[in-house]
Amino acid sequence: MPLLALIGCQWGDEGKGKVVDFLSSEVDLVARYQGGNNAGHTVVISGKQYILHLIPSGILHPGVDCLIGNGVVVDPLVLREEIQTLEQTGIKVWERLYISQNSHLIMPYHCVLDKAVERLRGKGKLGTTGRGIGYAYSDKALRQGIRAMDLLDKDRFASKVRSVMKFYNLIFAHLSKDETLDPDEVIETIFPLSEYLKELIVDGVTLVNRSLDQGKNLLAEGAQGVMLDIDFGTYPFVTSSNPTPGGVCSGLGIAPERISSMIGVVKAYTTRVGSGPMPTELSGDTGNLLREKGAEFGATTGRPRRCGWMDTVVLRRTLQITGIKRIAITKLDVLDSFESLKICTAYKYKGEILEYFPFGLEDCEGLEPVYEEVPGWQQDTNQAREPGALPENARRYIERIGEILNAEVAMVSVGPGRVQTIVKSASFWS
Ligand code: GDP
Ligand code: IMO
Ligand code: MG
Repeated sequence: MPLLALIGCQWGDEGKGKVVDFLSSEVDLVARYQGGNNAGHTVVISGKQYILHLIPSGILHPGVDCLIGNGVVVDPLVLREEIQTLEQTGIKVWERLYISQNSHLIMPYHCVLDKAVERLRGKGKLGTTGRGIGYAYSDKALRQGIRAMDLLDKDRFASKVRSVMKFYNLIFAHLSKDETLDPDEVIETIFPLSEYLKELIVDGVTLVNRSLDQGKNLLAEGAQGVMLDIDFGTYPFVTSSNPTPGGVCSGLGIAPERISSMIGVVKAYTTRVGSGPMPTELSGDTGNLLREKGAEFGATTGRPRRCGWMDTVVLRRTLQITGIKRIAITKLDVLDSFESLKICTAYKYKGEILEYFPFGLEDCEGLEPVYEEVPGWQQDTNQAREPGALPENARRYIERIGEILNAEVAMVSVGPGRVQTIVKSASFWS
């Protein structure tokens, strides 16, 4: 009954999609446990690029079933489009994709409010993806959310939408009259999608637990990363869910002891999209070079990602919270041309040395990274398929990160393609 949880360890975009795709050849069911279509997971197979926002990346393997768990917020319009796009490119989605009946829906009014509030925040904006994520999760917490199961009965759906929209239209009336939405229009836009989606709506908790009882291999696919976690990330510059292992349990309905192993996905340097602290950010030529070599532009919004050196203070905190002992380092090849590299090992703050990322935003002002400079390798790594084929300094770089974090580097990715992967672990499932 193995369940492997795959977790992003930085600020998202670590290459989770690529690693999920790589591991999916050994998997029966891939389940997303949190986030929504704020995520953008890119997978490259035989030179063809697929970007998945809601559907787990395992869908690209023909024999793998996929579940959108109850912890995910689902925009039904986006989901239909994603299914159609995949089907058009020859990927069979029907009969392999399931949606948990108790997952919450992202409704048009969530997206409108997300964008309107970001505009109001002006310079202090969070830099959200504008996909209505925070407001769908807010409604869940306010106990006024609409769930996938509500799509199975029009009267039930319509009465819930009418009730919650009284609340939204009160707010919209004060924000701007243009933003007010007609409940009937919302119902007529969203409810017809139930014809398309109802076959997919299941009891996800039973699906996951029964699959584990049957001895199947399960992979829990995280979105975002621990630094964007609502409880442990750089609050308030975070998303509205828990990418951490606790999110796996609450987002799928499984007991903690059913998680048999975990893998943390770590980019060989640091990136972040949107606002908020990022102590190792590089604003000049080096940052631009990382962005250019790593093609660091958001898979969901196309925004340029902020880039900087590897930050093990971030990762120390992540590993402390998650208990992750095994990591996959991605995008090593992006560092191929650098003469030397820096690894941040601590921060200086008010005369003290910090080894764990602070939780208070105010405590992030004036953090000074302490760097260890290491030699680069200035050779291509993208053809390497085993550790011995990597240049010595590349091996040292990876080993040094593992050593600082006291973690096993189980996998190294040297390119976006499935085959551009070096596996160092005997098994990921125990
Ligand atoms: P995710 O959100 O964690 O799944 O990551 P994204 O897909 O948003 O961003 C990672 C990007 O890096 C994608 O464009 C991937 O195709 C690409 N990528 C993944 N692994 C590697 C790698 O090892 N090397 C390079 N050069 N690109 C990679
Ligand atoms: P994947 O799964 C990177 C960021 C947004 C913003 C903050 C809040 O591809 O790693 P939200 O729309 O969630 O309310 O925005 O979180 N963010 C991500 N950054 N990768 C992601 O997902 C992200 N999902 C949200 O940029 O700063
Ligand atoms: Mg992404």
